[in-house]
Amino acid sequence: MNFNKNFIWGCATSSYQIEGAANEDGKSPSIWDTFTKQPFAIHDGTSGDVACDHYHRYKEDVQLLKNLGVNAYRFSLSWPRLISYTCEKGVIKGTVNEKGFEFYNNLIDELLKNGIEPWITLYHWDLPQALEDYGGWRNRDIMNWSYDYAAEVAKRFSDRVTHFFTINEMPMVLAGYIGWAAPGLNCTQKDHLKIIHNMLLSHGMMNRALHANAKKDIQVGCAHNGLGHFPATDSKEDYDAFVKAMNCIEGNPNAYAPMPGSGKIQMDSLIYYLDPIHFGKYPEQAFEIFKDQMPEIKEGDMEIISTPTEIQAINIYEGRPIASGSAPGVKDDGWHIVPFKPGKDITAAKWPITPKSMNYYFKFISDRYKKPVYVSENGMSNADIVSADGKCHDSQRIDFTSKYFEELSKGIESGADVRGYFHWSLLDNFEWHHGYNERFGLVHVDYETLKRTPKDSYYWYKEIIAESRNK
Ligand code: NOJ
Repeated sequence: MNFNKNFIWGCATSSYQIEGAANEDGKSPSIWDTFTKQPFAIHDGTSGDVACDHYHRYKEDVQLLKNLGVNAYRFSLSWPRLISYTCEKGVIKGTVNEKGFEFYNNLIDELLKNGIEPWITLYHWDLPQALEDYGGWRNRDIMNWSYDYAAEVAKRFSDRVTHFFTINEMPMVLAGYIGWAAPGLNCTQKDHLKIIHNMLLSHGMMNRALHANAKKDIQVGCAHNGLGHFPATDSKEDYDAFVKAMNCIEGNPNAYAPMPGSGKIQMDSLIYYLDPIHFGKYPEQAFEIFKDQMPEIKEGDMEIISTPTEIQAINIYEGRPIASGSAPGVKDDGWHIVPFKPGKDITAAKWPITPKSMNYYFKFISDRYKKPVYVSENGMSNADIVSADGKCHDSQRIDFTSKYFEELSKGIESGADVRGYFHWSLLDNFEWHHGYNERFGLVHVDYETLKRTPKDSYYWYKEIIAESRNK
């Protein structure tokens, strides 16, 4: 495979999904602390109150990373662990929680001591509940709250941390305002477009705050997600159809797929979110399609949003084959999604397995935005069990990942500038509204004893990393 010696091999996690210690050491509640307590919000009725108890077991988890041989570990900061908020005379005031900073300082030091580079995500969905009470992502002021938070992070950590992701998966933050993630609101499309604009502004402000307060050269980008489409065949027609699909910003409101003519924002469109960041403007067609539903764009907004970033990160799990020609019932834009055949390979979460998502999609992103790209997440949920021999034999995950690597390697060969890969995830963890039912880890977690058992895929990944270094 085509990964050079300097390729970054890593693993990713996020605060709410693994830390636990929900009410300890001065942490204030997040929207996920609130949301998980609502009846029926989480499929198995659980929460991240304890999760993997990483807050108390981080040293053991760093040893797992060390033995795996990764050079980098992507984790997120719990914003409400670091800053708590009150409102005085209509002005929101943040107070730093030193204990929270102490935890991440210790984690960073422990990682560095073990030869692992910390890569930080500032926002992986656990918004302080107090900020949601003031409107959360619907309130434009969030760009200023984001700035102050990021400034504090840079002041404290940028002496040792050089890579920062601002917001993880803006489309999934939006899901909280479509109803099925925290805070569980159901907003209009006009609100959705405003929320996206506020997220883009906050991304820009975090970027500015990080750079303004950095003690060293740092690299900043957001971690976006979407479907990684690919041409259904090798024909030129299907390739052109794939490009058209990538440029479609309308979507099926009930699914993540693009859908020309729907009049609805494709919640995880690539170009609707990333063109503003890299080109300083929304795609022209957005104004034609969404008309007066487009957000108010104030003077200077697009400059803030397009403050230069050094990198672009992408979380990728699946995509759809795209072919030329139209599909019945959909506006004819010269392309269509080819339905999967019955019995298509799927993961435990029932997501289709589509290795080709690692190929054309990354080339497209790389060509369009001309920034180094990192796969900030990729992996699969599997029905993993610890067998009678005390081991966890997850051959599906090995198969999945090796197929995805092969296609990623082809993408790189064809010119995609992908510089690193972070497997999702190091540990089985709290999979949001699915609770603990989906296991994404390279390491199995028994949630009763909190015992960690590295799976077969952990040892396989270890070999891949070692081989690629010794090339
Ligand atoms: C994306 C999210 O960033 C992460 O939190 C989640 O667990 C994985 N995908 C798997 O769904």
